[in-house]
Amino acid sequence: MSSGLYGAYGGRYVPETLIPALDELEQGWQDALADEAYAAELAHLASTYAGRPTPLTAAERFAPGKRLYLKREDLLYTGAHKLNNALGQAVLARRLGKGRIVAETGAGQHGVATATVCARFGLECVVYMGSEDMRRQRPNVERMGLLGAEVRPVEFGTKTLKEATSEAIRDWITNVETTHYLIGSCVGPHPYPQIVRELQAVIGREAREQMLELEGRLPEAVVACVGGGSNAIGIFAGFVDDPDVQLIGVEAAGAASLGSGRPGVLHGARSPVLSDEDGQIADAHSISAGLDYPGVGPEHAALRDSGRARYLGATDEEALASFRRLARTEGLLPALEPAHALARVEGLDAELILVCLSGRGDKDLAEVMSLTTGSPP
Ligand SMILES: Cc1ncc(COP(=O)(O)O)c(C=O)c1O
Repeated sequence: MSSGLYGAYGGRYVPETLIPALDELEQGWQDALADEAYAAELAHLASTYAGRPTPLTAAERFAPGKRLYLKREDLLYTGAHKLNNALGQAVLARRLGKGRIVAETGAGQHGVATATVCARFGLECVVYMGSEDMRRQRPNVERMGLLGAEVRPVEFGTKTLKEATSEAIRDWITNVETTHYLIGSCVGPHPYPQIVRELQAVIGREAREQMLELEGRLPEAVVACVGGGSNAIGIFAGFVDDPDVQLIGVEAAGAASLGSGRPGVLHGARSPVLSDEDGQIADAHSISAGLDYPGVGPEHAALRDSGRARYLGATDEEALASFRRLARTEGLLPALEPAHALARVEGLDAELILVCLSGRGDKDLAEVMSLTTGSPP
């Protein structure tokens, strides 16, 4: 079994009681990878249930002077890339004989994807969500309830994704025999970052093929927003071996773990985290619940250190401006998370650009409207 280290990052920083569960998960994952039936079941679900492949759309008016393509994960069933991972892990949990799933959610997209697959496979589902995120992502809370999941509000700290993740891990520790922790991004202890990357790599594989078909060449730059980093690592996976393709991650300026964090341990792995001088985790801030997290996946930290990928920031205002611009120029309402990625397109030293449109904006309409004075979004 592999170490799960990405340079100086990753690993397993968890209580002893979780080590057997992580070993079991890693073995189950290796067995699944070696089993053609697992890949075949996922491929069947992807095409008949989730709506893959998702298209590549040329955005002709958003960025004059560029040739911009959007990978349309917003068109995946449930409205974001999160379903790729949730389906893969649910099938894995079933193989491991786990009948109960716990998950954390920030924007609610991972919670909805998890509730969806649990309904589909008849698994019990508990989703932890910060009460501040429940307020700003109300439609997704209602969707999870309708899908039969129990949403447990988390009332402490910043009442956002960090605390929800801590609660989900606590639940998992208590119920580890019966429960699979369906983590929503490429974070957490080994083997989670590997599993989530592999399950999201379908985005990059498809986008690469589609780009070659439409343009006859690879993009000069691939851009994606980074919360924990799963949509970014998924789309990067298709291009990481092409040295001429720039890989660019965009963090929320108030939650820029890669931009301004320092190495630390959060939720079971070592990675750059926002922290004070004593190493205490600092609060993140972003208008977008899915980016509002003080840590990031370890593979991104290694890609940054090696220089293979670059990570930029975008402010709340820039994301809102891109949200409005995409709506007016292309007729697409993006989620606030990928609106951060769109905000950096104009300044790039590249003409042919691919952006991962990781999700759709329905969940954000109330938040955007409350921040928009006078003009509609
Ligand atoms: C639409 C969308 N994009 C991006 C993210 C950020 O997650 P990640 O960085 O793991 O892709 C989220 C998280 O909820 C999301 O809902």
